[in-house]
Amino acid sequence: MAPQDYNNGVPGLPYFTPKHITSPGTPAPNAQQNGSTPTLFTPLTIRGTTLRNRILVAPMCQYSTASEGPTTGALTDYHIATLGHYALKGAGLVFIEATGVQANGRISPNCPGLWSDSQIPALRRVSDFIKSQGAQSGIQLAHAGRKASTCAPWIAGAQKTAGGTRKVSVKADVDAGGWPSNVVGPMGGQEWAWDEKAADDESSGYWAPRALSEEEIGGLVQDWAAAAQRAVKAGIDVIEIHGAHGYLIHQFLSPVTNQRTDKYGGSFENRTRILVEIIKAIRAVVPDSMPVYLRISSTDWMEETEKGKKLGSWDVESSIRLAKLLPGLGVDLLDVSSGGNHPEQRINMFDSKDYQIKIAAQIRAELKKENLGLFIGAVGLITEAEQARDIVEEGGAADAAASQISDTELAKEARAAVKVTEGKEPLADVVLVARQFMREPEWVLRVAWQLGLDVAWPNQFLRVRFPKL
Ligand SMILES: Cc1cc2nc3c(=O)[nH]c(=O)nc-3n(C[C@H](O)[C@H](O)[C@H](O)COP(=O)(O)O)c2cc1C
Repeated sequence: MAPQDYNNGVPGLPYFTPKHITSPGTPAPNAQQNGSTPTLFTPLTIRGTTLRNRILVAPMCQYSTASEGPTTGALTDYHIATLGHYALKGAGLVFIEATGVQANGRISPNCPGLWSDSQIPALRRVSDFIKSQGAQSGIQLAHAGRKASTCAPWIAGAQKTAGGTRKVSVKADVDAGGWPSNVVGPMGGQEWAWDEKAADDESSGYWAPRALSEEEIGGLVQDWAAAAQRAVKAGIDVIEIHGAHGYLIHQFLSPVTNQRTDKYGGSFENRTRILVEIIKAIRAVVPDSMPVYLRISSTDWMEETEKGKKLGSWDVESSIRLAKLLPGLGVDLLDVSSGGNHPEQRINMFDSKDYQIKIAAQIRAELKKENLGLFIGAVGLITEAEQARDIVEEGGAADAAASQISDTELAKEARAAVKVTEGKEPLADVVLVARQFMREPEWVLRVAWQLGLDVAWPNQFLRVRFPKL
């Protein structure tokens, strides 16, 4: 190859950025690997797309779009800088944060949206940059339901309650760009405010929702589909439906927050109806080649509470039942999170290291038993190289790679160097990582280094690679 051939630009962009010689975060060509390639750094094909590795950046709200004017809810250069950096440094896919399918579905007035065609060009710029670095671009479509119209967390954090504790949430009123009278949910009335506090309680952080009518639910489902179409137009690779963390879909799924008596409440079938309708509406408008992911809270963590005992709650069993329906509906990957639907939940989401991964593994195992093809994503406190590697390690992968080495002694060494888990199922197919990426955008490269794997770095950073282990 002539020297200039190493400096081709990424095609289709209005600016020059070099096409990386080898995609960052993938094994370097001819690299002398210390053992075989961990599954974590092998590609994964889902429908018409291939992830370059199994490390995905989980969606993270940044509260950083305009709350008024013609660019309301549109992504900015801030999102290119932050999300772009994760893509540059090797993540397989980078998710754009929870994005409102309706204006009143934003968590805060500064959250992004995709309810209007005018929001497409800014999304395309972010997506184009992510993809130009070899990562897939994903967007999480969302509706916050009764948790909408709150202020950015740093506004809450700067205020104290009368009792002297820092506020967790502050309501965004009209002056702050909010929409108090149009906060919606399955149920309506002050008793259905997320924190169940009285409206005039100075510590109350959430608005009372009004109940959505059946007709409004029909419109909402169409708005999810319209937002998905806009994401396709913007060049997004993957859509994730946000069905977790106590936002609107989760509010419908759980009997703790859904006591409706119409076709959207009551039985499991009725409570999951809105989600099923949304999935079908999205699948009908996006290309067959496009993966659709779903994030759920696999449990409310409410089984042990008085409320949970009285009303019932969304639990792991419900999640397994739902998961079994997903392949038939055209969902490709289930991203297994938990909690967020009620303040009395009996676990702190961020407390124990494997709090959600065990559940992900349980769901995966149940689906495997019935031969149902659904990829599973594990998320939550994944911060260490070996931890990430072990979550997705395919039993056979290490061995198969080692057996390709003809020299017997080398093969033995290679087997010894990797944790051979032959016959053992992975706990999940991909890992999603949030906070660690904010702390350490080059996490993928550090993980590879710690695992003794020589992966490609972006062209521009080749002179500053970690030294060989
Ligand atoms: C700043 C921040 C913003 C978040 N925003 C979202 C979001 O938009 N959508 C979502 O589903 N989860 C969101 N989460 C949850 C993360 O995606 C992730 O599930 C959680 O932080 C646990 O993963 P971690 O331990 O790797 O951070 C957010 C978390 C943080 C820290």
